Amino acid sequence: MEPIAEREEEAYENIEPERRKVYNNKDITQENGRLLHMRLNVAIDGPVSAGKSSVSDAVARRLGILHLDTGAMYRALGLATLRAGIEPGDEAKVVDLCRKLKITVRHEADGQHTMVEGEDVTGMIRTPEVSMAASTVSRYAEVRKEMVRIQQQLAAETDMLVDGRDICTTVLPNATAKIFLTAAQEERARRRFLEMKEKGQEEPFETVLEELKKRDKQDMNRAVEPLRQAPDAELVDSTNLTFEETVETILRIVEAKRHG
Ligand code: C5P
Repeated sequence: MEPIAEREEEAYENIEPERRKVYNNKDITQENGRLLHMRLNVAIDGPVSAGKSSVSDAVARRLGILHLDTGAMYRALGLATLRAGIEPGDEAKVVDLCRKLKITVRHEADGQHTMVEGEDVTGMIRTPEVSMAASTVSRYAEVRKEMVRIQQQLAAETDMLVDGRDICTTVLPNATAKIFLTAAQEERARRRFLEMKEKGQEEPFETVLEELKKRDKQDMNRAVEPLRQAPDAELVDSTNLTFEETVETILRIVEAKRHG
């Protein structure tokens, strides 16, 4: 097994050097006793197709901070599992694979690139098969432990917006602002259906809705860190909001927490 430290270093490498300033692992940057900067961490959780990725991207850009899409990391492991011919339900084999693999992210001008053993898999992790595999492999405690650790290290290094399922509850319990972004199930399925159609992945609406219900159920009922709204997270229901309205609502929450 590869030493953990090396793997974390690899993850760090992807943070822009000028943003690497971290003092005594505290979230406050000081120089000669003068407060220079208060670490800004924004945590966004929510179910499948609540618009988390695109909304998070827009919010992070407006705040001028990086966006870490943690779902992409579980998706990368899901893809690697399928490629290795491992059944995603085989916990021991998946955990073993997770320990051996280097899953890292790199932030570029066009957003996050997710890498497995140095290979950029960003364009391969959005298929329905990989989605289901990601949801299955993310149930395992050992897998979550490893992913959470890398995510916490990355967020400690720089101002960052992190989106996922367990960010408010586990990854960043002390985040500056915590948001639970959701929308009605039918509306989320409608959005996913349109998104897939745009990519040429035509599926009947009923199939998309069923797949979404199945993933919701799996994400909300797993034994380890199931998806739930943290008690101190602000609920943003985007069912009747436009994309821009959702972004604005979240920015207002962040600004209120930051300066309030
Ligand atoms: O957010 P996205 O749909 O890309 O995530 C893919 C899967 O990864 C989810 O269905 C969920 O099971 C898992 N996941 C997780 N914890 C996170 C992010 C994603 O369990 N923080």
